[in-house]
Amino acid sequence: MKKKEKQKLGFALCGSFCTFEKIFGVMEQLAQTYDMTVIMSPTVYGTDSRFGRAADFIRHAEALSGKKVLKELKEVEPFGPKALLDLLLIAPCTGNSLAKLAAGIADTSVTLAAKAHLRNERPLILAPSSNDGLAGNAKNIGELLNRRNVYFVPFGQDDPDQKPRSLVAHMERIPETLLLAAEGQQIQPILY
Ligand SMILES: Cc1cc2nc3c(=O)[nH]c(=O)nc-3n(C[C@H](O)[C@H](O)[C@H](O)COP(=O)(O)O)c2cc1C
Repeated sequence: MKKKEKQKLGFALCGSFCTFEKIFGVMEQLAQTYDMTVIMSPTVYGTDSRFGRAADFIRHAEALSGKKVLKELKEVEPFGPKALLDLLLIAPCTGNSLAKLAAGIADTSVTLAAKAHLRNERPLILAPSSNDGLAGNAKNIGELLNRRNVYFVPFGQDDPDQKPRSLVAHMERIPETLLLAAEGQQIQPILY
């Protein structure tokens, strides 16, 4: 019997560094089931922070995917014309990238990957993580909730007392969100 081909997943990371420990746990899990390509925003590719060194994150992602991390516009542009991905996940998706996506701006590896991929009418899945999700970025989340082929990993307030406007996706729900998005369905509830 012919072996079933793995779905091709783009896993794009933006610079919400505090989520990376969880995100790499999810990436390890997804590497078992998908043919994965990792994309990093220039911020992620070039920033050492108190949450870890860029070189270590790059090495880890390359070990899990078995491929070079993509970080340049010219490396992700073929996602459009060559239809290289079945699904594209942006996790974490910063306020900065949410705003760009909502406005149709595609000036980073991650936002251009999204634009190129959406051209093929295939699912884009967003896992927001932003301190201003219930402030300046609320309108962008609203805009993207209403966009064709865009799905959300369920999200909620992570620390209402200390960060009353912050929203973060429940990253552990990524695998099931992807399964449903591949069928054209938004996982529910979106908000909790
Ligand atoms: C240590 C550190 C933590 C950050 N955490 C977040 C965050 O959780 N959410 C967010 O939206 N931006 C966060 N930022 C800011 C983004 O990294 C910044 O807006 C950057 O321009 C995002 O670029 P990107 O969306 O292309 O990755 C953080 C920055 C630093 C240095």
